[in-house]
Amino acid sequence: MTHSSATQPSGANPARVAITRTVLMCRPEFFTVSYRINPWMHPDEPTDTSLAVRQWNELYKIYVDLGFEVHLIEPIAGLPDMVYAANGGFVINNIAYGARFTYPQRQPEGPAYMEWFGANGFDVRDPREINEGEGDFLLVAGVILAGTGFRTATNSHAEAAGIYGREVVSLNLINPSFYHLDTAIAVLDDSNIAYLPSAFDAPSLEKIRSLFPDAVVVNEEDAAVLGLNSFSDGYNVVIAARAKDFERQLRERGYNPIGVDLSELLLGGGGVKCCTLELRR
Ligand code: ARG
Repeated sequence: MTHSSATQPSGANPARVAITRTVLMCRPEFFTVSYRINPWMHPDEPTDTSLAVRQWNELYKIYVDLGFEVHLIEPIAGLPDMVYAANGGFVINNIAYGARFTYPQRQPEGPAYMEWFGANGFDVRDPREINEGEGDFLLVAGVILAGTGFRTATNSHAEAAGIYGREVVSLNLINPSFYHLDTAIAVLDDSNIAYLPSAFDAPSLEKIRSLFPDAVVVNEEDAAVLGLNSFSDGYNVVIAARAKDFERQLRERGYNPIGVDLSELLLGGGGVKCCTLELRR
């Protein structure tokens, strides 16, 4: 791995390069909170679906303005969490490893996303093991970081390693509020990440520190608004508008943070990244 900052005078940042992304999203037409599968969800409290759609539209518009190719999957009535497209699968080199959800409430989403991948020219791999797609699999520095502890099973880490022929680094999540890896780690570019140390057990922290000695360490307050649940093109980093210190850290490192308010989708326990599945052809 190269850490160009180490070879530059202190204070200097490597030039950040935006690489236009292709993503899949799902309009939250049927979004609500009707069950509780993470601590953020309170089915007794009201949700506002039209507000969720308006906020989601802002995110969609940011991506379009950044020049992203944004694909849409048709939302399905009765699947209120389908808006969290990151969980729909994991895609590298046109190979779409399908999701197999932990909780029955979300299980029908797996085949729905696989059908979309198949209809759109991806090489679909039917999952044998429980996994929640890009919620728990992140590609950075040529390796796959894979979360476990709450949703994705470690057996699927081996399954993904076999499918992609890449090294998979398993990381144990220990805080139920940060139940998917993409709530505790943000991929900033090909070589660096931001993360919340307290979300991981000690052996996992050691792996993270040795792979990413120059990582951005995010504070509890910013993580608690799902600030890490962000999406970067290598220069522009779309983040929760409320994650103010993270915003400052990104600016200092030469990135361009773009804040968005997804407060309504936070009621389901998701943010920017959860609404975004990267399609790597
Ligand atoms: N309510 C959804 C769940 O608990 C939220 C998923 C968030 N997605 C993510 N990639 N972190 O499954």
